[in-house]
Parts: sequence; C-alpha cells; structure tokens
Amino acid sequence: MSVKDKNIIIGVSGGIAAYKIPLLVRMLKKAGANVQVLMTPAAHDFVTPVTLSTLSGRPVLIDFIKDDTGSWNNHVLLALWADLMVFAPVTANTLAKMAHGQADNFLLAVYMSAKCPVMIAPAMDLDMYAHPTTKANLEKLQTYGYDIIPATEGELASGLTGYGRMEEPEHIFAHINDFFKKKTELTGKKVLVTAGPTYESIDPVRFIGNHSSGKMGIAIAEEAAARGADVVLVLGPTHLQATHPNIQTIKVQNAAQMYDAVHKEFDTADITVMAAAVADFTPEQTTGQKIKKSGDAMTLKLKATKDILASLGQKKSDNRILIGFAMETENEKANALKKLQKKNLDFIVLNSLREKNAGFKHDTNKVSILTKSGDIIDYPLKTKKEVAGDIFDLVHKLKV
Ligand code: CTP
Repeated sequence: MSVKDKNIIIGVSGGIAAYKIPLLVRMLKKAGANVQVLMTPAAHDFVTPVTLSTLSGRPVLIDFIKDDTGSWNNHVLLALWADLMVFAPVTANTLAKMAHGQADNFLLAVYMSAKCPVMIAPAMDLDMYAHPTTKANLEKLQTYGYDIIPATEGELASGLTGYGRMEEPEHIFAHINDFFKKKTELTGKKVLVTAGPTYESIDPVRFIGNHSSGKMGIAIAEEAAARGADVVLVLGPTHLQATHPNIQTIKVQNAAQMYDAVHKEFDTADITVMAAAVADFTPEQTTGQKIKKSGDAMTLKLKATKDILASLGQKKSDNRILIGFAMETENEKANALKKLQKKNLDFIVLNSLREKNAGFKHDTNKVSILTKSGDIIDYPLKTKKEVAGDIFDLVHKLKV
C-alpha cells in the first residue's frame, strides 16, 4: 500500500519551519495523495495559505467560520475523512494544547475529533525542545500511540545550534510512505504475543510476582495490529491494556494459565512473540486460607513451572516464527544465545537490567537481537514502540 489515494491532513502551526511545508505537500500530491492543509492562525505569518492551497488543490482551512454568511467548516466530518493526520511543524504551544485536549482553534478541534493515526514533527528552539514540559508532553502523546518524528540537530532560527529543527520534508514524506506500506505488511497473519508478569499465588492474599509492567509486550501487540495482523495478546496481571481493535486480549494470572492460553492459540499463529516475564517457580501448594504468622522464619516450597517458550520451540514447524525475550543481568549475550538455541527460536530480544532507562516499567528500552543465523544487532535506546517496530522490520527482512 502507498500514499496514493490516501486522505492526509497536514496541520501546520506557527513556527519558521512552516516555510518547508509546501515541499511536503508537493511530494504527497505527486505521489497521488489527497492533501488537506489546516493551519493555526499563527502559522499564517510563516507561510501563505495561497501557496498551500495551490499546491494541495484544496482551500487551506484556518477558522471555524467560513465567511460572513455564518457557515462553518465541519471539523468532525473532516476528521473522519482523514486516513492520517500529520502535524508539521508542531510548536511547543500546539504540542501542549494537544497533550491537554485544548481545542481553541480549528486545527485542534479537528485533531480532537480524529480517530485516525497521528504523526507529530516538532520544531522549536533548543531550550524549548529540551524543556521538561515539552518532553513530558511528547511522552504523553506517545502513550496515545502517536508517531513522533523527532526534531533534528542543527542551526536554529534564533542563531543557536542544537536540537529543535523540524525533520526535513523528504524524511517526513518517507516516514508517511513507510507508514502506509507497513500498514498491510502483516495483513492475513495471526500474531500471538505474551506480555506482563505472572502472579503465583501463595495464599488468597500473597503471591510471587515480578516487576514487569507489560509495556513492551503491549507495544509489540499494538505494532503488529498497526501492520495489519490479527493479534492475540495473552496478558498477565497489569493495569495496562492494549487499545487497537484488532487485538484480542486474553487475561491470565499465573504461568500455568499462560501456558494453556498460549498453547490454544499457537497452532494457528504465524508469528509468536513471548515478551512476558513468566515465573520460573510457583508454590508447591496454594493454601485456601491466609497463612498465619508463626515463629521467626518460614519456608516456602516451590516447584518449577513449565517453560512455555521451550515447549513452543519443540512444537514449532519451519514456516512459523518464534521470538523470545531474554532478561539478563550478567554475561548477557552468551546467556541469550544459549536460550535462543535451547528454545529453538528464530531470534531472541535481549534486554539487560544494567542499561539505564531500559527494561521493567520504562517507556524506553535498549535491546540487542540475536538471530538463529548468528547475527547480533545492537540497537540504541529507543521507545518501546520503536523497539516493537524494529522487531517486525527484522521479521520482514529475514522473510522468516
Ligand atoms: N519463558 C517462558 N516460560 C517460562 C519462563 C520463561 O515462556 N516458564 C520465556 C519468556 O517469556 C522469555 C524467555 O522464555 O521469552 C526467556 O525468559 P527469561 O526469564 O529471560 O529466561 P529463563 O528461560 O526463565 O531462564 P533464566 O531465568 O534462568 O534466565
């Protein structure tokens, strides 16, 4: 799939980078997209609506009210028309309004009414870009599943040099193109994902668990769905949930329930990604009543759980893809390689607890992927959404 015949809204806010938007509109139009440009009133000072309406072939919309007759631009229908909304450039001000649901101009009213995917290309001076509020707003918008096209480093309008330049129109265009291409990459495929911790009950009050939040696995499920797959997410106990309509979530509590749920779905899954942090041991007995305190010490007898991933590896046929995770604290790559081989995986995603801002509960992760053909790819620190993208890019590349 390409941008051809796609309905794309470009939302321009008032920053100097707005002067580059005519190029983006031209590229999209040449590629066959239907482009509707919306502007904030401030954007008007940086690029003329005449230029953008000529290039897009549609009047640029800025205000709610069309003319003196009192007729209005229907922000709701326009939002429903769009296959994608691209905000470029986004100023710190518009970003803050988006993060807080403030709809005090036409562009923001369309944004609040939209159900389509959203891309955001920020542009501002370096200190505004580095400001904690901007960072927090970007992070918040990212949790809604929006695609952030980060600002780049270079000369800024203030004369200073640093991060804050809007990504070049060619790259934004490539990003949009990629988005539509990937949208159908996994159409017709079933992807099975596990996420979150498991809780192994000791008694009705207590359990043995771990610090997994489920963020990584949920990001993987969302990414697979965004690429067109039908996704089954087997999710351990966490307050987080997936939102994409193509994701069917099966909630489980413990390793045994996860084992059963996964095995029910595995035979029809084309790709299975085991991101859950499954308990290796479970209490030999779960008592029906709360265990009362007695004496100075207590011994809890545990028995091993079944290794779900290893059992899938034994069952797996050649045309199915099986991906595992490895969480290590030492000898990371050697240990991950052992797991890859022992569990018969196509590749294994290694995260180390030694990396800053990576692993449990963070929105970012730093991983290496080890493949069965012996490749090791080290990735920089990225958002979990981007890591999920890297996983499926690799699946696509390896044609496994
Ligand atoms: N896994 C699983 N079933 C288990 C334990 C782990 O399916 N009972 C899966 C995890 O979902 C992950 C992979 O196996 O994809 C590796 O998990 P990890 O905890 O890193 O390793 P273990 O195999 O449990 O080995 P160890 O705890 O000794 O590092």
